[in-house]
Amino acid sequence: MSAGPLTQVALQGLQTRCFGQRVFSFAEVGSTNDELRRLADAGAEEGTLVIAERQTAGRGRRGRVWHSPPDTGLWCSLLLRPPASLVPSLVPLLLGIAIARGIRACCGVPAFLKWPNDVLIAGLKVAGVLCEAGPGGLVAGFGVDVNQEEFPPELPAATSILLQRGRPTDRALLLRAVLEEAERLYLDACARGPAQLIAAATALLSTLGRQVEVQLEGETLRGLACGLEADGALQLEEEGGGQRLIRAGDVQHLDQVEPLDDLTGPL
Ligand code: BTN
Repeated sequence: MSAGPLTQVALQGLQTRCFGQRVFSFAEVGSTNDELRRLADAGAEEGTLVIAERQTAGRGRRGRVWHSPPDTGLWCSLLLRPPASLVPSLVPLLLGIAIARGIRACCGVPAFLKWPNDVLIAGLKVAGVLCEAGPGGLVAGFGVDVNQEEFPPELPAATSILLQRGRPTDRALLLRAVLEEAERLYLDACARGPAQLIAAATALLSTLGRQVEVQLEGETLRGLACGLEADGALQLEEEGGGQRLIRAGDVQHLDQVEPLDDLTGPL
């Protein structure tokens, strides 16, 4: 079931109007974000998706390398041109919600979010989002560790759905669920504003209500993560008093207490 290649054929039956209706699939690329950037700048339509079985130069936030071994994960980039009603800073959160919900629905494991855009299972990272803006539009790249049996020792905080679920996942099914959920959230936010998105993120964010350390460029903050602004910024009550809004940074949860979830709720 998991071994099938991720091609356009695998996406047949996708119930979207736009997201993933035009797919470019590759056996190997440097980075799917770079491939999609070229297509975007040449006028590709919104919703165009690039997928690859393997990336040789996959990248994460803050210049990190994104480990992208062959045939095991989802290495994808989706082209968006959000209207003014959807601030681009909400797109990483939107994709994180879609991935977490897709994992819950397809795999039956409780995935949560870590602000701003990591997806966690049991406190370990299973997916990340990297959005890059340019003249051709917003390239929203996402990587999901689906069927890896192991990770290199330099990634001790990484996990895969397989390791958490105990059996392989059909990547095409998962990708369809993620794209369908992402499009629903996107159309709703474009038409009605961000309230629903912020509510969904608040319900899934395991960061909220916890003591965190936030790594900014040249500064480290500690405090209680207490909520989200309408543009997705994190509200932090600093240890020494005072509130800060965090718009970019790396968050670390300072306790090991992950939320419990029996998957029966409406997340
Ligand atoms: C992060 O958590 O730091 C973001 C990781 C994003 C990885 C994905 S994989 C597909 C796309 N292409 C890339 O080079 N990066 C993103």
